[in-house]
Amino acid sequence: MCGIVGYIGSRQADKLIIKGLERLEYRGYDSAGIAIINDGLSIFKKAGKVKALRKLVANADTSGTVGIGHTRWATHGEPNDINAHPHTGNSGRLALVHNGIIENYGVLKSALIAEGHTFDSETDTEVLVHLIEQIQKDGNLALEEAVRLALTRVEGAYAIAVIDRDNPSVLVGARKASPLVVGIGEGEYFIGSDASPFLDSTKRVVYLDDNQIATVSLENGLQIRNTANEEQPPFIQELDLQIEALEKEGYEHFMLKEIYEQPKTIFDAMRGRISSKESRVTLRGLEEYANRFVRANRIIIVACGTSYHSGLIGEYLIEDLARIPVEVEYASEFRYRNPILSERDIVIALSQSGETADTMAALELAKSKGALIYGIVNSVGSSIARLTDAGSYIHAGPEIGVASTKAFTGQVTVLTLLALSLARKLSTISNTYFQTLVRELELIPAMVEEILQENDHIKYIAKEVKDHRNALYLGRGYNYPVALEGALKLKEISYVHAEGYPAAEMKHGPIALIDENMPVYVTATNPSAYDKIVSNVQEVVARKGRVIAIVNKGEQAIAKIADHVIEIPSTEEPLTPLLSVIPLQLLSYHIAVELGRNVDQPRNLAKSVTVE
Ligand code: M6R
Repeated sequence: MCGIVGYIGSRQADKLIIKGLERLEYRGYDSAGIAIINDGLSIFKKAGKVKALRKLVANADTSGTVGIGHTRWATHGEPNDINAHPHTGNSGRLALVHNGIIENYGVLKSALIAEGHTFDSETDTEVLVHLIEQIQKDGNLALEEAVRLALTRVEGAYAIAVIDRDNPSVLVGARKASPLVVGIGEGEYFIGSDASPFLDSTKRVVYLDDNQIATVSLENGLQIRNTANEEQPPFIQELDLQIEALEKEGYEHFMLKEIYEQPKTIFDAMRGRISSKESRVTLRGLEEYANRFVRANRIIIVACGTSYHSGLIGEYLIEDLARIPVEVEYASEFRYRNPILSERDIVIALSQSGETADTMAALELAKSKGALIYGIVNSVGSSIARLTDAGSYIHAGPEIGVASTKAFTGQVTVLTLLALSLARKLSTISNTYFQTLVRELELIPAMVEEILQENDHIKYIAKEVKDHRNALYLGRGYNYPVALEGALKLKEISYVHAEGYPAAEMKHGPIALIDENMPVYVTATNPSAYDKIVSNVQEVVARKGRVIAIVNKGEQAIAKIADHVIEIPSTEEPLTPLLSVIPLQLLSYHIAVELGRNVDQPRNLAKSVTVE
């Protein structure tokens, strides 16, 4: 959560840093701040979004070519000006920004108070900068060495950037369990929580590993050591990312842009991996470990939020097609419940950001027990991508809207490829069915395109239902996880209470909620459960619930009794989630816009959850 930017070079730092913070706002937007070295150390910080910071510095002297910045998702201390980063020590010499949680900050703070330190904020971060300051003063040390020694005393997770007024030629960054990347430009260096802040200046990057400390200076370039003081040769990568991917390109919101990108992103997730002509599905990451997969006792999928929902679809797909037992677990539960794991298990992590703290911890646990760990990740070079034994990127490009959309369909696409590939290896489905699924899968991008043309109709429905404060989402089989995802999309961006249920579960409790004020979104596109869903819809209608149904083109029975119907193309049942989720994404988007919500940056949320 929290975004970090740092710059050292010959250009004016504040402009680059503030623009960078705007690109990182998806990580948190409770407050923002910058520290610039000029004659002294100037710090500007403000509760609220980066635009409040922009206003604050508009008439201030922010000249200087070295600086750091931060956009915050509050953990310790409420989101106000004082708790905003950067923080500084008592001497005012150092400024530090931090993403993560210093878990032993209480003990450290007491020790520092005993040495005469006084604190202004309620943050754990302020303790860290005081600790570095004290160590630097005691040993008369260079900034990087003081940072290193301080970090050996810290427990928890951090990505930090630090500057020193008395040594303006150096910028120091370090990471442990929170991402940090160094950008190498022409006569300038950047630090970022990801590469987006500096992508228009350089694509040459070094992703730091845990316990690494990067020191950049214009004289000596980039040097990396670990907290054990060993030199670490930097591994420079060239990113294949276009700046346009970070812009709205004419859309009102990133979420809408990302919904509309799905025909392309689903195609990109399949590109080179599938061919109906050759009757082939190939996932390179899987091929390397094919024997382990084929002999696996079971597959366990760990994930959070939307990624957990795509994991549930993965369970249906892999069990249905490849007949390997699958369990899906919230990473946050899995990591703490002493799970039974062996070398015959495969743990698949699903993550858009590749930085979710709970998912990473679940993977580390699985690795320690000898399970093979496989990542299905969007962010290239992210921590999860680097931690796993093997994996497949979904190639959806940067997802900036906090509500995940294209990453969900990208994950489901890759899970479908995985299930098909395993089914082929294990001969659990016929060649004819394999071929049918592959052919249909190739048609999915065009079908998504067709659904997007229903946007105006969906917008109209959104206007009709926007004032209801509750909603139920129902689906069966493959569409049950889609119902969960629809409910999550609505609540996170419109703040409307919504719950997803398997349609048949409704009569075991939720039916008591149904009256004329309860919109019920029913996804009824799976032929195998069709008659049963028609009965469930009848039950809702009998209690005066308002039914918004997603059905296959030409469907009659539900269309006759529902208040609103959205027709989508029909496809093979295992592929239905890739289509049925699209109208639910659009409905949530339009309802949130109608309610005047901040769609891309909903309250209390952050795109990447790098704390527990
Ligand atoms: O980056 P990840 O996929 O690991 O993130 C998991 C969840 O935090 C994420 O899906 C979250 O639920 C989204 N806001 C949902 O739209």
